[in-house]
Amino acid sequence: MKLKLIAFVCLAAVVTHVTGAKPTSKPISPDLFGIFFEDINYAADGGLYAELVQNRSFEYSPSDRGGWNSLTAWDYVAWGFAYGTVSVETSTPVHPNNPHYAVLNIEDEGKEGIGLRNSGFDGIVVKAEKKYNFSVFLRQLSDNAVPFGVKLYNKKGKLLGETSISTSSKDWKKYTAVIDITQSSDTAELVLLATGKGKVAIDMVSFFPEKTFRNRPNGLRAELAQTVADLQPKFMRFPGGCLVHGDGLGNMYRWKNTIGPVEQRIAQKNIWGYHQTAGLGYFEYFQFCEDMGAKALPVVPAGVSCQNSGGTWRIGGTGQKGIPQAEMDEYIQEILDLIEWANGPATSKWGAKRAEAGHPKPFNLEYIGIGNEDKITPAFEERFREIYAVVKAKHPEITVIGTVGPFHSGDDYELGWKLAREINVPMVDEHYYEAPEWFIANQKRYDSYKRSESKVYLGEYASRGNTLYKAFAETVYLTSLQRNGEVVKLSSYAPLLAKTGHTQWNPDLIYFDNTKITPTVNYYVQQLFSLNYGDTYFDNVISLPKDSTVAASCVRNSKTGKVVLKLVNVGKTAQTLHVDLSAFKGLKTNAVKTILTGEADAKNTFEKPQHVIPVKSNVKMEAKSAQLVPAMSLVVIELSTK
Ligand code: AHR
Repeated sequence: MKLKLIAFVCLAAVVTHVTGAKPTSKPISPDLFGIFFEDINYAADGGLYAELVQNRSFEYSPSDRGGWNSLTAWDYVAWGFAYGTVSVETSTPVHPNNPHYAVLNIEDEGKEGIGLRNSGFDGIVVKAEKKYNFSVFLRQLSDNAVPFGVKLYNKKGKLLGETSISTSSKDWKKYTAVIDITQSSDTAELVLLATGKGKVAIDMVSFFPEKTFRNRPNGLRAELAQTVADLQPKFMRFPGGCLVHGDGLGNMYRWKNTIGPVEQRIAQKNIWGYHQTAGLGYFEYFQFCEDMGAKALPVVPAGVSCQNSGGTWRIGGTGQKGIPQAEMDEYIQEILDLIEWANGPATSKWGAKRAEAGHPKPFNLEYIGIGNEDKITPAFEERFREIYAVVKAKHPEITVIGTVGPFHSGDDYELGWKLAREINVPMVDEHYYEAPEWFIANQKRYDSYKRSESKVYLGEYASRGNTLYKAFAETVYLTSLQRNGEVVKLSSYAPLLAKTGHTQWNPDLIYFDNTKITPTVNYYVQQLFSLNYGDTYFDNVISLPKDSTVAASCVRNSKTGKVVLKLVNVGKTAQTLHVDLSAFKGLKTNAVKTILTGEADAKNTFEKPQHVIPVKSNVKMEAKSAQLVPAMSLVVIELSTK
């Protein structure tokens, strides 16, 4: 019954192209397919960021989440008749930005010792024969040095690896050690165990796998980052989403708080109801982009906080707060400083900070987003105009991306577009999460957008599900983005990552836990478009049956000379499409065909992570051919012309 409805909707809505005419071409932005990273669903801490200790700096608090405090994820342990105390103090921190630390007072170390045990993010995963980097900041408060064991245990109390350190300074000092793991565990715990009397202040307890993505220090979980990188995104937007404008003025994401030594960064409440350490901060985001070959697309607040600040999600936008006008110059300078930090020479004030962090060469920032689906109020408009005027004047080389509300239509969409037209904002960020039928029915959305107006970044979209049918509804829409490449310059599915057990938003592109990673079928669709991108779109190459359930595109990559056909069928019967490639000079008959296909409700899960994956084969293809597109399938055909 459900399938019948799907077929009906598709039959009524899919666009048809009639060939016979000569192919016409138009340019497509080479950056069309990118990714959207937001620290939602534990995407950063406990996710992509490879730190294995939770609440390493004792900064968790009830304002992050009810019931949390400085010792969340920590246990006080006193073993073998030992006794003492633990407290949390703030009088002499490692850095004022990082105010809380633990103090251990060991009155009697007993037979084994006194210490703190961290349970990680749902346990700590360690692998046998792998090395891990431990570090901690200690300040010896007693006259005597205090020896510590650093131990990894599994749940049964078996020791998996250890090292020892001893305090040697009455000032804060960083101690580091490498720990070899002898036995794997998915649920290990880290214990910092004082084995002598004394008093010690403890902060920034850190435990990282030695192997991170591209072996970066303070780096990313290697396999998860690789899964993201395998999308070969042309850009990465970060750090959100709603995380950007934050839950009230004090919760806005301020980039300067997230750079420099990790112990000096400012942690804060994550708008999605947990805690963000800023360990994955602006430097790490830019570096990740560079490592993936993606352009960085940072989004900064437009001087206003989320319209839902202090309220319930999407209750109508009454909670938006604006940075006081008296502080706007300083705020605008912060955005200019970001551009200097990214692109300025290493001799400039902010470029020097980038160089200090290990990147003397500029990051070549091209895009900056200002605002995230904000309510278009007078307070927003005033601040956006101010920011835009200065950034445009000082940095005409940067493409500023404005915002047009959280929906594809409605007041904020209209007002956002009105403002963009009036002040010629180069690009605007559209967001919409809709039913698959909406995507299929709205394939013509951008056909009627005026080519002379602001360009579009489709910054957030998803068809509300991870089944093949829903992913193919997105696919149909993606072919329409290619067809409208001169309007839609960038696009990114949202959100990217979701940790099982900590997911605030569904659907997402990649699901993971501490040991498993499941790319969804939507992921494979994104990957097929990204890997097979073109810079030119050709019409009149593929002829679609009238009123059918198929959509298609033909693009060419001028650098590689590859011509790529993408044929998607969201219906339950196979369709035949006629393809005429005779206009392409030098076309080779050897082609690579990739098919993604399955039942409409098929999806990838932790149990069956590879239930639906693309399958590649080599085929022969003449310039003129009939292509069978099986029911519920995406067929990608890649041909060479060089
Ligand atoms: O992608 C999840 C959220 O959806 C983003 O944070 C927000 O911009 C949108 O409403």
